[in-house]
Amino acid sequence: MSILRVLTGITTTGTPHLGNYVGAIRPAVAASRQAGVESFYFLADYHALIKCDEPARIHRSTLEIAATWLAAGLDPARVAFYRQSDIPEIPELTWLLTCVTGKGLLNRAHAYKAAVDRNAAAGDEPDADVTAGLFMYPVLMAADILAFRAHKVPVGRDQIQHIEMARDIAARFDHLYGEHFVLPEAVVDEDVALLPGLDGRKMSKSYDNTIPLFLPREELRRRIASILTDSRAPGEPKDTEGSALFQIFQAFAAPEETDALRNAYADGIAWGDAKQLLFERIDRELAPMREHYRALVAEPARIEDALQAGAARARAIATPFVRELRQAVGLRSLASLAVAPTAAKAPARQALPSFKQYREADGRFRFKLLDADGTLLLQSRGFANPRDAGGAIAALRTSGDTALPDVAPMLEALPPGIEAETVNAALRRLADGA
Ligand code: TRP
Repeated sequence: MSILRVLTGITTTGTPHLGNYVGAIRPAVAASRQAGVESFYFLADYHALIKCDEPARIHRSTLEIAATWLAAGLDPARVAFYRQSDIPEIPELTWLLTCVTGKGLLNRAHAYKAAVDRNAAAGDEPDADVTAGLFMYPVLMAADILAFRAHKVPVGRDQIQHIEMARDIAARFDHLYGEHFVLPEAVVDEDVALLPGLDGRKMSKSYDNTIPLFLPREELRRRIASILTDSRAPGEPKDTEGSALFQIFQAFAAPEETDALRNAYADGIAWGDAKQLLFERIDRELAPMREHYRALVAEPARIEDALQAGAARARAIATPFVRELRQAVGLRSLASLAVAPTAAKAPARQALPSFKQYREADGRFRFKLLDADGTLLLQSRGFANPRDAGGAIAALRTSGDTALPDVAPMLEALPPGIEAETVNAALRRLADGA
């Protein structure tokens, strides 16, 4: 019924490099252009705090990463592009999830276990220098994903366990409080290149072997010139196998171009010439983006505007959903409590709210719930056929607000000024009166 929701987060530490571009940014931007998907890409700045306690670096990295994604072609009109810390529902949901997450589950998280193993190897206390933030990392990440009922989460291999934990946590919550969540699936793209760095190991900040994405042209040329090669002289045939230079070229070039370079290797191209070819090929792809990046970084307020617009879109989903979850766990307004019948007099009978079903010019079928005085309480999205719209109405009419979680994906955000509790109470009255 609903379209596929794809969500991924980008931790805002560091400066994007070619490996990030080829492995994550480029494929994600391409995927966001596909029809039939609704994409949510966000800057995981709460996650960044777990790894980094330098405010200026977090701030700078947020700017650079946001500008990089926009320069790489991410269209904020198509994709909800936002900053995690602009969505207060995420930490709120984190707590609701924390309360159903087994500590033992978190003990098994790779990142935490690796820290404990390092401490053991160094002869330290198991939890030396481990913050509760690192320990809770998977719960925060689960909240990121679950708050938007994302179906698919593109991630690197190292993150698969976190998605599995998000599923476990969601299932546990649903078991306790009824069906609310979509169980997300990790998507690991087997085709994207794992880019080697200057020294031939995986390109990674921790190896200090990266090529930053938007270096000025001449610096890019110098970096590429420092890629490690073997000592074969010009004229000697060269191996493509194990050649970092070749692999990086391949990640940017069309198959014919790669074939041409393979032939040049066999013919003994000089390393200096091969590096020049690589530089030209990469620069051809990056130069226009570099321009765009520079322009964006020069106007951070424009980036901020885009992020705020993205946050508003994201919250239109997360706010009503977390409200529903608060209800589910019992964080509820006291005004909703059924008043115990007092001896004195029976409560006055209230006129019942009603559903109206109708068809719009777009051909889709919608319904609304109106209070007895005509106030709009609920507005549905467009259903493809009247049967589905009618089914949703019937569920709400017979089961009252307990049917809301199932119907919620087909509902618009609450009308301005209408509290969830007003709607819940109206639905309950309708169900009780029916
Ligand atoms: N932990 C992810 C990483 O380091 C970033 C991230 C945070 C994320 N929240 C997320 C990825 C939610 C996917 C979904 O790569």
